[in-house]
Amino acid sequence: MLQLNTNGAEFIKRHIGPNAQDTQKMLDTIGAKSIDELIEKTIPNTIRSKKPMQIPEGLSEFEMLQSLKKIGEKNIVATNFIGQGYYGTITPSVILRNIFENPGWYTQYTPYQAEIAQGRLESLLNFQTMVCDLTGMPIANASLLDEATAAAEAMAMIFNHVNKTDTITQPKFFVDSAIFPQTKGVLVTRAAPIHIQVEEGNYQTAKIDTTYFGAILQYPNNTGSIEDYTTFIDQVHQAGGLVILVADIMSLTLLKSPGELNADVAVGNTQQFGVPMGFGGPHAAYFATKDEFKRGMPGRLIGVSIDAQGGRALRMALQTREQHIKREKATSNICTAQALLANMAVMYTIYHGPIGLKKIAQKIHGLAQNLEAQLISLGITQANKFYFDTLHLTGFDIAALQKEALAADINFRYFNDGKNDHTITITIDETISLSDIEKVVALFEKVTGKKASGKAASAASIPASLVRSSSYLLHPVFNTHHSESQMMRYIKQLENKDLSLNTSMISLGSCTMKLNAATEMIPVSWPAFSTMHPFAPSSQTLGYQEMATELSAYLCETTGFTACSLQPNSGAQGEYAGLLTIRAYHEHHKQAHRNIVLIPISAHGTNPASAVMAGFKVIVVACDAAGDIDVNDLKEKANLHKDNLGGLMITYPSTHGVFEETIIDICDSIHALGGLVYMDGANMNAQVGLTSPGAIGADVCHLNLHKTFAIPHGGGGPGMGPICVNDKLAPFLPGHIYNKNKMGAVSAAPMGSASILLISYAYIKMLGATGLELATAYAILNANYMKSRLEKNYTILYAGKNGTCAHEFIIDLRPFKATAGIEAEDVAKRLIDYGFHAPTMSFPVAGTIMIEPTESEDKAELDRFCDALISIHDEIVAIEKGLSDKLDNPLKNAPHTQKVICADEWKHAYTRQEAAFPLYYVQQNKFWPTVARVNNTHGDRNLVCTCEPVASYAE
Ligand SMILES: Cc1ncc(COP(=O)(O)O)c(C=O)c1O
Repeated sequence: MLQLNTNGAEFIKRHIGPNAQDTQKMLDTIGAKSIDELIEKTIPNTIRSKKPMQIPEGLSEFEMLQSLKKIGEKNIVATNFIGQGYYGTITPSVILRNIFENPGWYTQYTPYQAEIAQGRLESLLNFQTMVCDLTGMPIANASLLDEATAAAEAMAMIFNHVNKTDTITQPKFFVDSAIFPQTKGVLVTRAAPIHIQVEEGNYQTAKIDTTYFGAILQYPNNTGSIEDYTTFIDQVHQAGGLVILVADIMSLTLLKSPGELNADVAVGNTQQFGVPMGFGGPHAAYFATKDEFKRGMPGRLIGVSIDAQGGRALRMALQTREQHIKREKATSNICTAQALLANMAVMYTIYHGPIGLKKIAQKIHGLAQNLEAQLISLGITQANKFYFDTLHLTGFDIAALQKEALAADINFRYFNDGKNDHTITITIDETISLSDIEKVVALFEKVTGKKASGKAASAASIPASLVRSSSYLLHPVFNTHHSESQMMRYIKQLENKDLSLNTSMISLGSCTMKLNAATEMIPVSWPAFSTMHPFAPSSQTLGYQEMATELSAYLCETTGFTACSLQPNSGAQGEYAGLLTIRAYHEHHKQAHRNIVLIPISAHGTNPASAVMAGFKVIVVACDAAGDIDVNDLKEKANLHKDNLGGLMITYPSTHGVFEETIIDICDSIHALGGLVYMDGANMNAQVGLTSPGAIGADVCHLNLHKTFAIPHGGGGPGMGPICVNDKLAPFLPGHIYNKNKMGAVSAAPMGSASILLISYAYIKMLGATGLELATAYAILNANYMKSRLEKNYTILYAGKNGTCAHEFIIDLRPFKATAGIEAEDVAKRLIDYGFHAPTMSFPVAGTIMIEPTESEDKAELDRFCDALISIHDEIVAIEKGLSDKLDNPLKNAPHTQKVICADEWKHAYTRQEAAFPLYYVQQNKFWPTVARVNNTHGDRNLVCTCEPVASYAE
């Protein structure tokens, strides 16, 4: 029986909002006797799980922390000189405490409701400005998933730009051999399905002709050498191609920028700006380009606009580029994109300022020079004529050094291709001190049997032609907040502008904004997990391996599948990875022609975008009047394309918030024609423990761990999108250069953003099988309770055959356009005056809002939200009855800022009190938007995506 058991695991009561008494009241409102009855009415019996999940019962918060600490102790925190895209960094404590560990920053959603997101929008605009300045490019986005995927996004963007028509005239892409191997791996995976021919070679000898659409090089390169690519870039341009530079952002404080070298795109990681390595992530990659490519640019772009009062206001710009609008025509599927980490990286830059940042880079470079001088005195050869932070060494007994280094917990990067490349690199980062250098020298002394001498600076190690002379980070924001007080207040000032889960519920349908419990978050900051390098020797990472093995088993258990890959670092990446497994399966069975994928019209935009990236052609399936997949249309289209049918992508329960009864029939009919079924796991919060993707007949699914499994949304990322598969697809899961299997990698690190897996692990450990199942039941209970309260005032679109919804439901606001001139946007903005973030807008149906309360909200909070919507309905009725003006009413003018309410002049027909404090509870916890309604079109017409000169927004 599904019941809150007060003797059960302690954490269940902390995670689930309603208590036992309120549960009964809520069931009464719904008209169900018990939770079991509600679930029976809601989930078709044919797909109900037959047995409990094999997941141990929950630990208390204290027990879980103790046990995870023990697991962490199995990781060895070594001193890392591996580099290769991941560097030790010092997170300023003020940023660690006030952003990384602060729910006021990490629990927010992507800033779609710009009026209550001005803080992180400003921070992300700062991030774009920082990237533009350092790369010398005019436009940059607000972050991508990791360096390797950013490189792949750049490749796809320039491929589409050059090959404008359907015919590919320039299919070749030159990849310089000296880029990081993990980047190469991801590029190769991404290239194949879209018919890009990757040609690897040495840029110095390559012949680029008109069959190439572009090239990619790394600056400094894989072994740390700084190369001057100017002539090569000219050569590519002359052949009609474009050039991507993967650039180390720290080095750009000393080196000529990619923009000055005339590159077309610059990508890289910002991890070394204060974001812990975390065994691979999460970190924010950057993407900067020339103005002419802005409409093809992947990811989110923050821009400056104005609000209804004519004041400066920020919002996400050019959204028509994104997958949710462009769907199968999108060049990228990027949705969640590491916003929190972008915020951390730019705050690091703001804290240090241009001078501080340059000093850090100079210290790194200076230590590298010091080490070089000492090693040369031992007779060791350093192969990089020019370098920033990395020495490339040979001429000594590498095996002996490796043995000594391992014993001393010191990691270098070892190259051994079994032929002539038997070398090592040593990379210095911000955390390395002179005494670390001495330890390294001592190791070499032991191995060579000599004594190092001479610390004299070597010859210039940055070529004169590439020394940076251009200025950067001149904007006051980078030159003001250098004391801790200033920094703390700046962070707080921005935080105060944003509505987060620590203010009120965020009921975003399909996004599952549930509790991100503090206990789940704490281990992410522990050095035993946060300082681990993703390419450290496996003997040092036993703790991570143990946690990942256990987590994978739990995820398999919840999905009813047999194998799991933790690599995809967002939901959309999971879709792409999952579809690649389907593609590989068909290829393996000599059915490579199966390139059609059916996708219902109601699907999230990432689905068709991911399908195209994975080389599929999308056929759209209709939905019927009840919102379900139109089974006749599906079967017709499946039959029509049966010879080439690759599969079906579905979301379950549907994006309409319903457990479709026909699901098994749908999956069977696809299987009967040789196709496979991909299930988008965004709605897993309605499934865990009660049914599963395996039970409905799917073959593969991704799990948005940042939805169902408690990873916070971070204001637009981080997220994780592991995939689980059945036996058929298990052989085709993503591999990695360091974990070779048939398939290529989809992310830079083997376990994607590994450190945040700890959050989902902790969540599962503390809820246990019973708690997980109860959480699902309460997610459904909470949604049905709200539905019952609201259906008296609003039309609820779609319900199951017994009139219940799953974990979310859609309110139809379209009728009010005709009766009162009120649109969904007016309701969304008016909710802000009531202290709430709007639900998901116009997805999957335009003119509606989709509410998903999650299990973590208690009855009182659900009631406040319902009261707000009911009160808004009264306001609409007043307009309908002519009691309130059609244009001058609280909805049309929403949201109301403090400035507007306190202004000397008040010309509206309603009162200030009605505008700002429409219900009693609002007085207890008023949240003020800092800007009035934002004008989107103005911003897109006058695109500004970096911090403007201060004068431009002075009053
Ligand atoms: C149904 C659905 N699928 C996929 C995604 C994409 O997930 P992500 O943002 O992690 O890439 C979302 C995101 O909200 C979603 O709602």
